[in-house]
Amino acid sequence: MTVTISRTQRRFVLPESELPTHYYNIAADLPVPQPPPLHPGTREPIGPEMLAPLFPMELIRQEVSTDREVEIPEEIREAYRIYRPTPLQRATALEKALDTPARIYFKNESVSPAGSHKPNTAIAQAFYNKREGISRLVTETGAGQWGSALAFACSLFDLEAKVFMVRVSYDQKPYRRSFIQSFGATVIPSPSTETNAGRAILAEDPDSPGSLGIAISEAVEEAGSRDDTKYSLGSVLNHVLLHQTVIGQEAMAQMEMAGDRPDVVIGCAGGGSNFAGIAFPFLRDRLSGASSTRFLAVEPASCPSLTQGEYRYDFGDTAGTTPLLKMHTLGNDFRPAPIHAGGLRYHGMAPMVSHLYDQGFIEARAYAQNTCFEAAVQFARTEGLIPAPESSHAIRAAIDEALEAREAGEERVILFNLSGHGHFDMAAYDAYLAGSLTDVEHTPA
Ligand SMILES: Cc1ncc(COP(=O)(O)O)c(C=O)c1O
Repeated sequence: MTVTISRTQRRFVLPESELPTHYYNIAADLPVPQPPPLHPGTREPIGPEMLAPLFPMELIRQEVSTDREVEIPEEIREAYRIYRPTPLQRATALEKALDTPARIYFKNESVSPAGSHKPNTAIAQAFYNKREGISRLVTETGAGQWGSALAFACSLFDLEAKVFMVRVSYDQKPYRRSFIQSFGATVIPSPSTETNAGRAILAEDPDSPGSLGIAISEAVEEAGSRDDTKYSLGSVLNHVLLHQTVIGQEAMAQMEMAGDRPDVVIGCAGGGSNFAGIAFPFLRDRLSGASSTRFLAVEPASCPSLTQGEYRYDFGDTAGTTPLLKMHTLGNDFRPAPIHAGGLRYHGMAPMVSHLYDQGFIEARAYAQNTCFEAAVQFARTEGLIPAPESSHAIRAAIDEALEAREAGEERVILFNLSGHGHFDMAAYDAYLAGSLTDVEHTPA
């Protein structure tokens, strides 16, 4: 007897030769230009000299560039080839479990050495700093993913790295610390006694769990005080979003291999970089009117900068040391609750994502953490991958879209970015499985 199994392709893999050669810069295609960063004193647009103590010239150039394409140097592409192109996967088992006519695809960024999308920009930033003679980088990390990525990238380009790690993550994730140290970087909990910003917070609250805003203040302060050191940011700024567009460019080619076009593209949003990475290359067609694809940014209910923040100029950090950025913000003094998706605990949203949201090209949704972990566990039990708590927000939204499609009897094509795995987040899964996770909703002041 012959049994016929209908076979649906699950993995769409590009050869190394298909690695993108350029980053895609959405600034070239905006119908309305993005509001510029302002000097906090004069409230005039800043020039490169204000950023020069913190960033190498090439990154400053990319920050303000309106060229559609920025060539990726061969040294960066060589490092990307350690893990790129990443696979696009069809979540057929999840579709079956949901009994949905929707087709769910995910771009798997968890296969990178750090376990997330973060090395896409860490490698680029380490390279450009090295090329301009910098020997040391300092940064912050929320969940530990960004610190891991920068530590890895600095080891590739022989740079020293120091990471201010948000205290709550430092305590919750000891193995992220070990990971960062294994690549030769130094990691210290933030707020720390090493900077004025850290000492001021500790004087007010000695048990402060820290936040990305505080850790950024510490890292910026240290970078500004040493000639051999520059600052490196893992999200929010245009050049970081730009580097992440390798994700969406590959995904476009892979969706073509699959013979599908996404009706909705989903990413979780902390500072906005993985969302931008998957969304912006697809958004180009939406901006030109060639597609009607929807774009959905998903954030935590406890830190809902897009869905509840104001769209105004604000500081990127807690101490108020950065230029003013026009963004959706809960206020730079907002202290996010210590939820488990540490990488989503940021008071603001990337100015470019905020601008496109304001212009109506992006939708946003906020979820509490228990419902995200429920989605994460369903995904793990069907697709075999334990997602990062941050990524579980995108999965929750993808599942809800698939359930809506079932109700509507519609063949919706859903694409989400699996921004990372959760192998260092098992304490969070323990808490969820034990029923001891609390949901924290933001209550506007
Ligand atoms: C796995 C993962 N996903 C998402 C994020 C959120 O950052 P962004 O919005 O910049 O992609 C982080 C941040 O640390 C992360 O580690």
